[in-house]
Amino acid sequence: MSHEISDDNLPEAHGASHGHEVASHDDPFADPGLPAHEPRRTDIDERAAQRAERQVSLLFIVSMLATAGFIASYVIFPIDKIVTIWPLGEVSALNFSLGMTLGVALFCIGAGAVHWARTLMSDHELPAERHPIEADDEVRNDVIEQFRTGAAESGFGRRKMLRNTLIGSMALVPLSGVVLLRDLGPLPGKSLEHTGWSKASKTDPIPLVNMNTNKPMKAEDIVVGSLTFAKPEGLEEDAHDFQVQIAKDALMLVRIQPEDLKDAKSAELGFEGILAYSKICTHVGCPISLYEQQTHHALCPCHQSTFDLADGARVIFGPAGHPLPQLKITVDDEGFLVATGDFDEPVGPSYWERSR
Ligand code: FES
Repeated sequence: MSHEISDDNLPEAHGASHGHEVASHDDPFADPGLPAHEPRRTDIDERAAQRAERQVSLLFIVSMLATAGFIASYVIFPIDKIVTIWPLGEVSALNFSLGMTLGVALFCIGAGAVHWARTLMSDHELPAERHPIEADDEVRNDVIEQFRTGAAESGFGRRKMLRNTLIGSMALVPLSGVVLLRDLGPLPGKSLEHTGWSKASKTDPIPLVNMNTNKPMKAEDIVVGSLTFAKPEGLEEDAHDFQVQIAKDALMLVRIQPEDLKDAKSAELGFEGILAYSKICTHVGCPISLYEQQTHHALCPCHQSTFDLADGARVIFGPAGHPLPQLKITVDDEGFLVATGDFDEPVGPSYWERSR
């Protein structure tokens, strides 16, 4: 079926100055060219342009304030403060504040840039004719000229308030990343050098408590070949710093026939073959949990460091660089196991300075 095309239903051509052809019967899909440019209010009204400039600057200033609020959040809100915010319910005040302020800071930069482009930058459409990929000198010079013209028309140099507030907001946003370093946690300082056992002394010993039953442990109940996990009496699971403390205080209790012990100093720190070692691997700090009672080897599941508990927890395999620290233990008048001091070395990863 033939379709009649008349001049009346062809698109009207504009922008003949760009050299586009008007559609005809011979070429009904000819490029209609660009529509005529409609000046915006800000193009013809300098007061409207100044108002738009102030609006854009205001957005950039709000961004700067939000970034300052982001940083201030770290000072204002404790890390564990919980607040109720409708409709989210209970949320971390710090996380909520960080999210809101960073979101506002980034949004305002984006909104300001869009508003600037839509109201103040030139909106003249320019056709880009297809050309060989490699541009000749004339085209390159033309591009440079266009870039300069665009830069001049954007008002970046002329509108100093816009330029300065944009630079200010862009310069402040990266500071948010700097304060995020705090989330790596506090510097450990000397915190690993002393554990909850450091309060123990010969005159004021600390009883060992079974980690599972939460009950004091009698030496006579520890059978040869067994492995038991223990903690200091008074360290309760509902304590606010339980995780921090147990990561340093956790004990691995084994009982080995005294005649099988190869290290005299280690045997002396124990009680009748009962030895109390740190449960924290000296490689990078995983909790050790595997024990082979025939060989007295304890194995760290993370990178397979293996410690000989009959030989002062000497490393016999794997990447750990130091033996497991050992706790001096004995029994009280009723036969309960007690500690009389801290570990013989700082607990934790080997890369730590180990001498006290
Ligand atoms: S943490 Fe134990 S072997 Fe790596």
